[in-house]
This record gives sequence, C-alpha cells and structure tokens, in this order.
Amino acid sequence: MSIREGEICVSNFKTSKGHEPLDTIRRTVIALTAAGALLAVAGQAGAQSPQPVSSDPAVVTQEREKTMKSMGDAMKKISAYVKNEGGTIDGVREGAATIQQASHKIVPSLFPADTGIGKVKDSEAKPEIWKQWPQFQQAAQKLESTSAELVTVAATDDRAAIAKQFGQVGQSCGGCHDNFRQKKE
Ligand code: HEC
Repeated sequence: MSIREGEICVSNFKTSKGHEPLDTIRRTVIALTAAGALLAVAGQAGAQSPQPVSSDPAVVTQEREKTMKSMGDAMKKISAYVKNEGGTIDGVREGAATIQQASHKIVPSLFPADTGIGKVKDSEAKPEIWKQWPQFQQAAQKLESTSAELVTVAATDDRAAIAKQFGQVGQSCGGCHDNFRQKKE
C-alpha cells in the first residue's frame, strides 16, 4: 500500500515540476525503503511469535512433562550440593542452566490452549492456566528471573549464596504449582 502511494507521489512531482525535485523523489524512495525494512522486521517478529511444540495436545503434554521432569532432576542435583550430600558445583551449574533454559519454553511453547485436565489424559494442568493467563505468565517469568540469578550465583563457589538462590527457584516452582497444577493422587 505504501509503495503504491509512493508511486503516485513520484509521478506527481514529475508532472508538476519536471526534473527539478529529483532530490525530493530520492528522499521519498529512501523513506519508502526504510518503511519496507520496518515491515520486513515486523514480519520476522511475527514469525517468531509463540509456537506450540506440536499441534497434537498429547504430544505437547508429553513434551511439557519431560521438560518439567528435567527441571525436577536438575533441582535434585543442586539440592545434593546445597545439602552437602554428594553433589558437585559442576552439577549445580549444569542444573541451573537446564532450569534457566527450560523456563523460557514454558509460556511460548508448552502450554497452548486445550491441553490441560479434561482435554489430555493424565494432564495435571489446571484450566485456571488459561483463565488466568497473565498470572500464569508471571509465574513463568518469576522462574526465568530466579533461575537466571541462580546461573550467576552458581558461577561462584559460594555454597551459602547458592543455597539461598536455590530456595528462590524452589519457591518459583511451588508458586506456579500451587495455583496451576492439580497433582494426581
Ligand atoms: C509457570 C508454571 C510452572 C512453573 C514455574 C513450574 N511448573 Fe512444574 N508444572 C506446571 C504444570 C501446570 C504442571 C502439570 C503439567 C501437566 O501434567 O500437563 C507441572 C508439572 C511438573 C512436574 C510433573 C511432570 C510429570 O511427569 O507429570 C514436575 C516434576 C515439575 N512440574 C517440576 C517443576 C520444577 C522442578 C519447577 C521449577 C524449577 C517447575 N516445575 C516450575 C507448572 C509449572
């Protein structure tokens, strides 16, 4: 649309003022090119918008549970270090990275609509997730930030600081589960 407008602009200049306003035409062309570039950027951003891991709800749920389990395993590794029960600082660093990476997948790809309790057999995802989406998003963001901080703290060898931040991450897991996960009996 903007390009059509541009063409009209250019031909208007030509008919009314002959060769004189070449500079204006050039500026118009530059402006149009910039607009085109902006559109292209907007298009790319659109292409990167949230995509579920699959269009099959059962596959999404499997992938979600796998990701959650990987975070659970990571928490165990970190806990073993924090409690001095045979864990290592490398385990902490690995675990923190796993959680941090997984946290970024929660909202964009692991919880598309219609993939919870009543829709997918054995899912523990409560319908409140989709009714209170902003709160759910916040709970995911909380884990993104607390786990990022854990990655930073884990770069040190400071067991007390790691223990403290590990507690923050644990609260971020629990904060979401309390509201949005219905544990199977
Ligand atoms: C933003 C919300 C949210 C956060 C944050 C979150 N979880 Fe979950 N988690 C869920 C939901 C919802 C389910 C149920 C998913 C289902 O069964 O469909 C779940 C399920 C699980 C499960 C069970 C998986 C299975 O096999 O059924 C484990 C283990 C788990 N989470 C661990 C964690 C750990 C550890 C953390 C923190 C490091 C965490 N979760 C953070 C929402 C969250």
